[in-house]
Formats: sequence, structure tokens, C-alpha cells
Amino acid sequence: MIRHFLSLSSIPNSHILALIDRALFFSLHKTEPILKNKIIANVFYEPSTRTRISFEVAAKKLGAEVINFTPESSSVKKGETVYDTLKTLENLEIDTLILRHSDDHIFDSLQDKIQKPILNAGAGKFEHPSQGLLDLVTLYQEFGKLEGLTIAVCGDIKYSRVAGSLFVAAKKFGMKIIISGPGDLLPQDYDQAFVQKLPFDEAIKKADAVMMLRIQLERHQGLELDAQTYHQNFGLTTERINRMPDHSIFMHPGPFNRGVEISDEIVEHSKSRIFKQVNNGVFARMAILEWIMNKGE
Ligand code: CP
Repeated sequence: MIRHFLSLSSIPNSHILALIDRALFFSLHKTEPILKNKIIANVFYEPSTRTRISFEVAAKKLGAEVINFTPESSSVKKGETVYDTLKTLENLEIDTLILRHSDDHIFDSLQDKIQKPILNAGAGKFEHPSQGLLDLVTLYQEFGKLEGLTIAVCGDIKYSRVAGSLFVAAKKFGMKIIISGPGDLLPQDYDQAFVQKLPFDEAIKKADAVMMLRIQLERHQGLELDAQTYHQNFGLTTERINRMPDHSIFMHPGPFNRGVEISDEIVEHSKSRIFKQVNNGVFARMAILEWIMNKGE
């Protein structure tokens, strides 16, 4: 029985496909208040716009109430631990806890001790499974399949939890991954059975979808990167888009930095699915909340 939603690795492929299907259903149909009288809490120890608000919108569309817990104005300021905070919220009759934290291993000690479902809204550089699901929904919507797709991931992959979940999904569903970026920001160990390293200008020519990633300076202070040089070497530009295959698209989990990993003028290019991803985030999170809160396994 799956109680929490912590990693795509622990969710059977059939369940992930069912969640994609359900998200696509929610994107097309009016919804019933199937989570009426339920309460979820957004517990975010790191900043967020997309994930926090889309979980809130998703919950409200399904009829649930939402409480936004902010560490800055809570007893965290008096030294309360993450465990004690979640245990307190659980005993305040919260039905589901949505947690974002900077610690890769934050769930290791929590998952057996908290009875209410916990949803991973981004944990350090480990995984961001609801982002992973919305990325799969976007790919499936675009190509009608996952198996056999080639995804070029460019930028700060080593410190990316978005890449963490995408790589898990790629292995599960037979997608190929190409990695590109500055050597310091690429993983040293990767599974060469499905991951290939290529220069960025070659990668974009081979990919069905290019996933651009932000440089996550909050996770690796001290790396010296000049934004202009980075943009020249690894930025997605109009000139580079013109060399991508006709059928291909590009994505970015956001927040994006215009003029660094992505040119200002291409954010809303016809190949961009950036705001489609944001929109699918609502439907993917509705599917996750419905599954975890209403159905269990
Ligand atoms: N993609 C993503 O996690 O964005 P936020 O940090 O705004 O939630």
C-alpha cells in the first residue's frame, strides 16, 4: 500500500500511466468536489510559486480546504523540528501534508512516523515527483507516447531534483536521455544504458524535447559562472531553436532566468511548452491528490 508520494521510483508504471490519464481527463472535464471536507497543508521550507500555488489550486478544484504553513511565522522560529511540525499538523486534523525542503533525505526518518500522506514537493537535489509527473503529462500530450522519446536535458543537472525525477521516469518508460552542460554541473555517474553525454549543439538536433534547467545557485554556492558566457555556450536561443527538428519542443520547469539558460525572446516561442507545463501542473497535482487522498493504492 502506497501511503506517501515521495519518489517516482516507488510508484508502479501502471499507476504513473493512470495518473497521466487522469491528469489529461482533468484537463478536459469539469470536476466534482471529491475532496470536500478534506484539508491539505502546504509546508514549504523553500520558496515556490508554481508548485505551492498549483497544489493549492488543484486541492480547491477538488473541493478541499488549504492551509499554507509558513516557517518564517511559525514555531520553527522557536526551534521546532520538521518532524515535530508535521506531527503537530497531523494532530491538528490535517489530512495531507505537502512538504518542500532543502534536505535530500528529509523523508527517510519521516515516512514511517507520520501516518497522514506526505507529498514530496521538492526535496533538495533528490526528486521532485509532481514536477516529474507534469513533465510526463506534457510529453504524453505532445507525442502520444513516452517510450522511445529522446529528451535532451541541459544545464545544472547535477543539483537538479527535476532531472532526478525525469531520469527515474525515463528509465521506467524507455526514454533516452542526452545530458549537456558545463562539466561541473553534470553528474559524474550515470547509467550509460539510457543516458548519453553530448555537446549542447549536437544534443538539440537529436532530441524530441529539450529540457532546459536553471543554475541552482542555492545548492552550490561558489561555482564561478559568468551569465553571458553561459548563455553563449548553453543558452537556448532563436538560432539554436532553428536547428532543432521540426516536430521537437522545449520545456523548462521554471523559474527560468531570461538571458542565461534561455533567451528572452523565445520564452513563448511556438516550440515552447513552458506555460503548458505550468498549466499541466494543476491537473497532474489534482490526479496525485485524488489518488493519495481518496483511493490509496
Ligand atoms: N518548478 C518548480 O518547482 O517551480 P517552483 O519552485 O516555483 O515551485
